[in-house]
Amino acid sequence: MLDSHIDDLCGSLLQRTIRKLRPAIALEVGLAHGISTLYILEAMSENGGQKLVGMDPAQFDEHWQGSGISNIRKAGYDALYEFHECTSQQLLPQLVQKGLRIDFAFIDGWHTFDHALVDFFYIDQMLNDSGIVVFDDVGYPSIRRVCEFILTNRDYEIHDAVRYDEDVSAIMQVKRNIKNIILPLCKTDKTPNRKSRKKLSMLTNVYFLALKKINKDQRRWDHFIHF
Ligand SMILES: C[S@@+](CC[C@H](N)C(=O)[O-])C[C@H]1O[C@@H](n2cnc3c(N)ncnc32)[C@H](O)[C@@H]1O
Repeated sequence: MLDSHIDDLCGSLLQRTIRKLRPAIALEVGLAHGISTLYILEAMSENGGQKLVGMDPAQFDEHWQGSGISNIRKAGYDALYEFHECTSQQLLPQLVQKGLRIDFAFIDGWHTFDHALVDFFYIDQMLNDSGIVVFDDVGYPSIRRVCEFILTNRDYEIHDAVRYDEDVSAIMQVKRNIKNIILPLCKTDKTPNRKSRKKLSMLTNVYFLALKKINKDQRRWDHFIHF
């Protein structure tokens, strides 16, 4: 049985993004059984893609047993896929150093706040303007905070998203209404401003998120917006 993989809705988002963007070089953090990788490779192979760079330190451990690599081979995409058996925090700075440029990235590796932010930090340095970075598991508080930081502090906008279904949505809606009433009552200098709150509200119910890079980093050295 397969575990730890994206669902069909997320696979469709990856494919429609790639079909529109037509990235030459793409990058993916985390391989596992390679389900998202197969969605990406299928769309890239149909759209003139040259290479997907992937990395995962545990692909050949007793749990994954090389199943991602084996699935890519069986599907006939090995010529499009460049695999590195190491962590993203080891590989990504090396790729930046080598001057790699990418148009598309998918982050689905180690899910702590700091790891996901470091993944984004290096990917952003390689991502061309108008390029797209996709996050899985935006419902996790750790990944959500990374996405909230990017939306409020960096020049990125929401390109596409997959949201929870209606049932979950109703509960989330109640929580959101309560938060909207309470937040202005206990405002501090750290409360996100109105513009940020509007951006953050767009993440409600999102669990899979594609962010488009509008511009390269032009912030002052001490820039910070509360989020
Ligand atoms: C949720 S799974 C990825 C699932 C995959 N996207 C799919 O849909 O089939 C997360 C993967 O990230 C890998 N991983 C964990 N820490 C990592 C790191 N620091 N760098 C890269 N990959 C990592 C794990 O070994 C695991 O295979």
